[in-house]
Amino acid sequence: MSFFSRKITTLDVDIHSHLIPNIDDGSQSMKQSIEMIEELMVLGFRKIITTPHIHPNYPNRPEVILAGLEGLQKEIAKNNFEIEIEAAAEYFVDEGFHQQVKSKRLILSFGGKHVLVESSFLNKPVFFESVMFDLQSAGYIPVLAHPERYNFLEGSIEWLEELKSMGVMLQVTLGSIGGYYGNKPEQIGKLLLKNEMVDFLGSDLHRDTHLTFLEKGLKSKEVQKSLNGDKIKNHQFL
Ligand SMILES: [Fe+2]
Repeated sequence: MSFFSRKITTLDVDIHSHLIPNIDDGSQSMKQSIEMIEELMVLGFRKIITTPHIHPNYPNRPEVILAGLEGLQKEIAKNNFEIEIEAAAEYFVDEGFHQQVKSKRLILSFGGKHVLVESSFLNKPVFFESVMFDLQSAGYIPVLAHPERYNFLEGSIEWLEELKSMGVMLQVTLGSIGGYYGNKPEQIGKLLLKNEMVDFLGSDLHRDTHLTFLEKGLKSKEVQKSLNGDKIKNHQFL
């Protein structure tokens, strides 16, 4: 029996993707969204929490995201797909987001209180930790998207250990483990899995070219080992 025909442990719930058409750099049409969702179903996903960007380049308001979700849900029902879909957002941490947290304006979360956040890739914002603290004070659990991809870490996981110790959860992207973003993210991602620092895995699916790497990551021995352990918590949102 070849490796790829062996039964794999599925992730069941994806908590990071860009599948609402035409509102960020993810899916650019309903057709693309439906095709990608079908592929996720083939890989064993039963629920998708899609997370459009809320970013200076894509300043999506919650109403826009929720209206887009409704359109996508209708299309999924029309196709008779047996998959649940919800929406939250991927928040870019900057001054604007910090103000939003402090003024207690609506923040899109999943699982009741988890908020997906991302940092700039090149420079660590000096106020990042205080934003995390304020999010926690407002009753949320911050989840840092793709910790393995931040160039400013230069291969060190020290900052990620600090974030973990303050209660920030980490979401590694399957495509990173599959090699899509190059050697460094793959190595850091694998190290985080080995050190049992990963709370969630996600697809961060934007376009169909990501799918091969997503599948490779999902079927990798590192991810399969983690999915058979008790640290990855995606299934809690089923
Ligand atoms: Fe993303």
